[in-house]
Amino acid sequence: MSVSTAAADRTAHCDTDTSGSLPVLGRDVTVPLVTGGEVTYAALDYAASAPALQRVWDDVAAYAPYYGSVHRGAGYLSQLSTDLFENARRTVAEFLDCRADDEVVFTRSTTDSLNLLAAALPADCQVFVFETEHHASLLPWQDARVTYLNAPRTPGEAVATLEKALAGRDPYGPALVCVTGASNVTGELWPVRELAAAAHAHGARIVLDAAQLAPHHPVSVQELDVDWVAFSGHKLYAPFGSGVLAGRFDWLREADPYLAGGGASKKVSRRTDGGVDVEWHESAARHEAGSPNVIGAYSIASACKALTEAGFDTLVAREQQLVGRVRQGLAEVPEVRVLSLFGDDAPRVGVISFVVEGWNSSHFAAALSAEYGIGVRDGLFCAHPLVRTLLGSDPQSQGECGAPEAAPGEKSLNAIRVSFGVGTPDEHVERFVAAVKELVANGASWNYRTENGRCVPAA
Ligand SMILES: Cc1ncc(COP(=O)(O)O)c(C=O)c1O
Repeated sequence: MSVSTAAADRTAHCDTDTSGSLPVLGRDVTVPLVTGGEVTYAALDYAASAPALQRVWDDVAAYAPYYGSVHRGAGYLSQLSTDLFENARRTVAEFLDCRADDEVVFTRSTTDSLNLLAAALPADCQVFVFETEHHASLLPWQDARVTYLNAPRTPGEAVATLEKALAGRDPYGPALVCVTGASNVTGELWPVRELAAAAHAHGARIVLDAAQLAPHHPVSVQELDVDWVAFSGHKLYAPFGSGVLAGRFDWLREADPYLAGGGASKKVSRRTDGGVDVEWHESAARHEAGSPNVIGAYSIASACKALTEAGFDTLVAREQQLVGRVRQGLAEVPEVRVLSLFGDDAPRVGVISFVVEGWNSSHFAAALSAEYGIGVRDGLFCAHPLVRTLLGSDPQSQGECGAPEAAPGEKSLNAIRVSFGVGTPDEHVERFVAAVKELVANGASWNYRTENGRCVPAA
């Protein structure tokens, strides 16, 4: 059956607007300022969750009346929804430039994708992961023979560190390397192709955590020669609860289903001894038990199409201008220190973390929000070992937000992260740079206090 709904056939507009950004939801939302009045909200926390693309929202809205059960129903809308779900796999596979025999499994998120792969590791698999990873790629391997590699200070050192670790491994057993494409703390790009070559040279496989890379940069499984890629819809402008694990299927085919249940099972029968025999699917469905999130999958496919049709390279070029503007603005403030593992010249995406001398980062982030309508993030960004290394601190305790915890010369306990992407207008970045300068020069205009662990304006 071919899908021929308005949702599937429409060629929704995906043009950039005059500023070169792609239309996203929430552009006109205004928020109150503690100092009086309202401003349009400057969403500069894309690395946590990006706003939905207007195109994605429109596609989902157009499909919603046609919503039906996937893989189960005999009715027209069920068949249409099943087609949409399966077509979404093909769109994602194209977007990632997968190999012909790769499978796309829809999951809930990057965390879910990496936990699925961890659950599918062959027996005795050795895992190699840098301590700099986001917790989603650092922690799922605890039940395997995992080796944590020290933070490298250059891309070359990353490759050399991995080479050395792999050279010392049991050469006959299976092995997996897990690496991030772009850091969620520094935004810096990791040498994925070189790490993949090193992994393969030593008979290991590699999974790419593309949670921060895929929204900012084209990802080609074949060019990078990675075995798997994981990413989340909500960071790729499609916040409808789905993620992706794409790549080789042999380990996944051999593994027990991630969840046991309907959809993953092909045939179930009672045994004479009273037990139950199950024949599991040998395709992606094996790891997608339960009713699939068709809207989640469809929204990801819609985002993939929107980015491709808008010209991903053009979007990257514009984002790089914004990166340059923020970095230049921050460099003009001597009290600001930008966190970096690989140094100033490292290629990076629109994710920048920094600390401000004399300021508690939570206090600074709260003032950006309350006094300027700018949403950033403060903390350790679910990458505690990396941020501690970059800060040179041992942040077992959080400072009180009202009083600056880091006096001049002292180390900060946490950091501030600004992140942006295809929907970010120039004005948000300009407002952010101006606000940082003003706060550092004049201090906050309001008093703040800690409430439930958050820094908030005092009444
Ligand atoms: C690099 C990286 N990997 C993995 C994740 C986890 O993504 P999710 O929370 O969508 O599972 C994040 C989230 O911030 C991330 O930045």
